Amino acid sequence: MSLLNNDMKRKIKKAARIARIKPFYQEQRSSAFADRWALIEPELSLQDRSVLDIGCNIGQFTSKCADRGMFAIGIDAFEEVVARAVKVNRDRRNIAFGWCPLGPEIVDTLPQTDVTFCMSVHHYWSREHGEDVAWEMIARIAGKTGKLFFEPASSYVRYGDHQPEFLENDGPSIDDYVMRNFKRILTRGRSVKKLGVTASIRQEAFRQLYLVS
Ligand SMILES: C[S@@+](CC[C@H](N)C(=O)[O-])C[C@H]1O[C@@H](n2cnc3c(N)ncnc32)[C@H](O)[C@@H]1O
Repeated sequence: MSLLNNDMKRKIKKAARIARIKPFYQEQRSSAFADRWALIEPELSLQDRSVLDIGCNIGQFTSKCADRGMFAIGIDAFEEVVARAVKVNRDRRNIAFGWCPLGPEIVDTLPQTDVTFCMSVHHYWSREHGEDVAWEMIARIAGKTGKLFFEPASSYVRYGDHQPEFLENDGPSIDDYVMRNFKRILTRGRSVKKLGVTASIRQEAFRQLYLVS
């Protein structure tokens, strides 16, 4: 059993990030960023004027959208992450970052946007609130946006004590899990397609990306 409780672990992580000893997620996965963006950008059109990046981290996707002329909002649960996003994007226009730990109680208050990113954040909700609530949050988010980019984690360790119903690190099984759940939660007329696979970090070789439109 760990001697540190979650609150203490969180404080240590936060201090390490502020001291720049521990890198931010998007810095750790930076070698995959160009591949991830290459899957996303062709799906964006000139009619897509606004974006909400949920779990934006240091704002790499948010800023790419702002550079396309979109009004871009990034939200994240951790204040040091948001502070870093603000700092690295301080010279950009049409971009805003907010400290917002998104949960089921406030998901309905999110603004409507043309595009929403839920990239590698769904497993945090699954871990904290359980799988059913996490998918219910995704359903509500999908209802507020024209295009939802969705990237789930591939390994069980990311989901905490809860084991999602797919074979760990197995692409076809993750496809099946994602499609099954979207079929269950999406309203009529929405469709889902897989955009591709990119490299991940630590225990995971890859993560898969999907688009709901
Ligand atoms: C694995 S990183 C993914 C970052 C980015 N979306 C990407 O794919 O490159 C997950 C991010 O979601 C944030 N996060 C975790 N729980 C959240 C919540 N409840 N509300 C908003 N952001 C959250 C974390 O702080 C972290 O920056």
